[in-house]
Amino acid sequence: MNTQLLLPTKKNISLVGQALLTGNLVGIPTETVYGLAANALDGNAVNRIFAAKGRPADNPLIVHISDIDQIEKFSLVSEIPESAKKLMAAFWPGPLTIIMKKGCVPNEVTAGLDTVAVRFPSHVVTQRIITAAGCPLAAPSANTSGKPSPTTAAHVFHDMNGKIPYIIDGGACEVGVESTVVTTAGDVPVLLRPGGVTHEQLESVVGHVEIAHAVLERMNDGETAASPGMKYKHYAPSADVILLSGSSEQYISFVNEHISDNTAALCYDEDVDLIGGKTYSLGHKDNYEEQSANLFSVLRLIDEEGYNTIYARCPERTGTAMALYNRLIRAAGFEVMELA
Ligand code: TXA
Ligand code: MG
Repeated sequence: MNTQLLLPTKKNISLVGQALLTGNLVGIPTETVYGLAANALDGNAVNRIFAAKGRPADNPLIVHISDIDQIEKFSLVSEIPESAKKLMAAFWPGPLTIIMKKGCVPNEVTAGLDTVAVRFPSHVVTQRIITAAGCPLAAPSANTSGKPSPTTAAHVFHDMNGKIPYIIDGGACEVGVESTVVTTAGDVPVLLRPGGVTHEQLESVVGHVEIAHAVLERMNDGETAASPGMKYKHYAPSADVILLSGSSEQYISFVNEHISDNTAALCYDEDVDLIGGKTYSLGHKDNYEEQSANLFSVLRLIDEEGYNTIYARCPERTGTAMALYNRLIRAAGFEVMELA
């Protein structure tokens, strides 16, 4: 199959809308990361997503809508809890996925769970594609399973070339990490994955929100994942990632002592001139949004080189840095080295 990269013109959006409605897969931009979309109401189309990504069949997908009314129109959920209504009003459209008790959604989408994840993206092109398809779209991140999520159309082309007919190029993703996932299916809302909407922002709207254990810590042997995606090995580069916690001075002197041809530093703009070896910057030191936006493309770049060891800075565990911490701690096998 030839994979075509298309600009989001009216003509191309109606072309891919038709392709989606009739069961084909399309790579689509969103404000978080690129998605690999299929008609969420067509179980056979959804199965093709799992095949193209090499995704385990028990990892459920997010259903994307372009209007809140589509939840009822397509009977996606059996009920909308009060907490979910408040979160929708505050953060939709945007980088927040809300899990509710499932309605009429094929088992292929929910991997047999009795809940369904729903998201209303803010990217105008995503909204136009969903509206053109005329059906909700199931879409995981458009990477091969185990690779970093794609944040440009070129990343999607790299992973999906020959496997899907179309990719819509909507430019680089603004948020750069996947959406925040929160479940409202239980008594208390639980944060399952940190993303562009922070824990603090969620709590300001619905009061106490628990943080699932696997967000910040390694899962225990035998622990059941609150979200199936948390139990799978996440992206880790071929090099060892050493996550270092301490001051800028401590980090810079540690890296300068340990640098060699086989090592690289994953650092901040402010560190670059002070480090003797190869550096990859995520952005400005205190700008976590900028660092999130760059994270996956920098990790893809690093993977193309042949380093043994990456010395990375350990982000804070709270606020807008929590999403970065959550992704990097997985890349580092949950080890953090404290610099004394
Ligand atoms: O930003 C995003 O969310 C992107 C864009 C394309 O929208 N999508 C995305 O999808 O990151 P994916 O499939 O890579 O991650 C979805 C996560 C997985 O960890 C999955 O296990 C979890 O959401 N999930 C989906 N449905 C669930 C459910 N019913 N209960 C618990 N977790 C669920
Ligand atoms: Mg993913």
